[in-house]
Amino acid sequence: MRPLRLMKVFVTRRIPPEGRAALARATDCEVEDWDSDEPIPDKELERGVAGAHGLLCLLSDRIDKRLLDAAGTNLKVISTLSVGVDHLALDEIKKRGIRVGYTPDVLTDATAELAVSLLLTTSRRLPEAIAEVKNGGWTSWKPLWMCGYGLTQSTVGIIGLGRIGQAIARRLKPFGVHRFLYTGRQPRPQEAAEFQAAFVSAPQLAAESDFIIVACSLTPATKGLCNKGFFQQMKKTAVFVNISRGDVVDQEDLYQALASGQIAAAGLDVTTPEPLPASHPLLTLKNCVILPHIGSATHGTRNTMSLLAANNLLAGLRGEPMPSEFKL
Ligand code: NDP
Ligand code: DGY
Repeated sequence: MRPLRLMKVFVTRRIPPEGRAALARATDCEVEDWDSDEPIPDKELERGVAGAHGLLCLLSDRIDKRLLDAAGTNLKVISTLSVGVDHLALDEIKKRGIRVGYTPDVLTDATAELAVSLLLTTSRRLPEAIAEVKNGGWTSWKPLWMCGYGLTQSTVGIIGLGRIGQAIARRLKPFGVHRFLYTGRQPRPQEAAEFQAAFVSAPQLAAESDFIIVACSLTPATKGLCNKGFFQQMKKTAVFVNISRGDVVDQEDLYQALASGQIAAAGLDVTTPEPLPASHPLLTLKNCVILPHIGSATHGTRNTMSLLAANNLLAGLRGEPMPSEFKL
């Protein structure tokens, strides 16, 4: 028997099948979605969310005061298909007593795998090398040609030794890394022990690392953390990788550091804005590798994320403990 009053759920994009199926099975909910791979226009989002009890959104949806006002007082749960929550106006959401679900852990392995792929792709100059094969630039085996930087005996600095930061360190260790450094709000001795990683300040990490990987969350404190001063501290031979959020990096300063040879190379899975316009100056640089935010993009991971996001939403609506609640 269907309950008399169905709870209204709005989903801002076409999500993977396991999540869709879980929502479709919920007989206590009336689910509407923006059934497209492309972003929902603002007006459609405002219309769809109006009167909704539950909202399942993506990291590309800005859930701000204006949207919460458009949703109205029915809204009880926001479930995001991401571990990052920087797109949510958390203070405003908390004030309204809305619960938040997110997707930690299930994407850690896929994202760490991508971070390592990006690091190797950038440090060993794979896009340049592939281009040379295709454009006839490969004329002979040359001792000084296409050299990059290797991980053996290197120092790796991780900004944010959280779930993903640790998973990256775990994967890099067998490459023969000599020393791990990390920074954050406070030391994490238990987590760091596995890698004998030393807690240092951000400037010390910048100065001593051969490879720097940004894996922190975006917060007011981390916004613009990697700026001119940071890049000036780095070694000229160092490689910088960001899989966190674009706003942790001052992109103007990164461009200058790369173009002037202040640092060797950068690999970015995240940028500001997203998508990065094809005319962006960073895309003119050979020593900058940019990916379209694909950290968690494996079929299995995205499916699992969608199921977790659906289950978070349904549990929240039913007043039950969520599998993964972001505590406000
Ligand atoms: P965790 O919460 O486990 O880790 C977040 C880390 O950020 C912690 O180590 C924390 O360290 C660090 N941090 C917080 N504040 C600061 C600060 N002021 N300075 C330095 N470090 C800080 O999250 P996850 O590892 O699961 O995810 C991390 C982020 O990765 C997500 O928030 C998301 O933005 C991004 N991400 C990107 C993906 C992609 O597709 N590219 C995929 C998945 C996630 P401490 O608490 O010790 O300060
Ligand atoms: C996240 O989950 O925050 C990533 O950016 C996408 O998976």
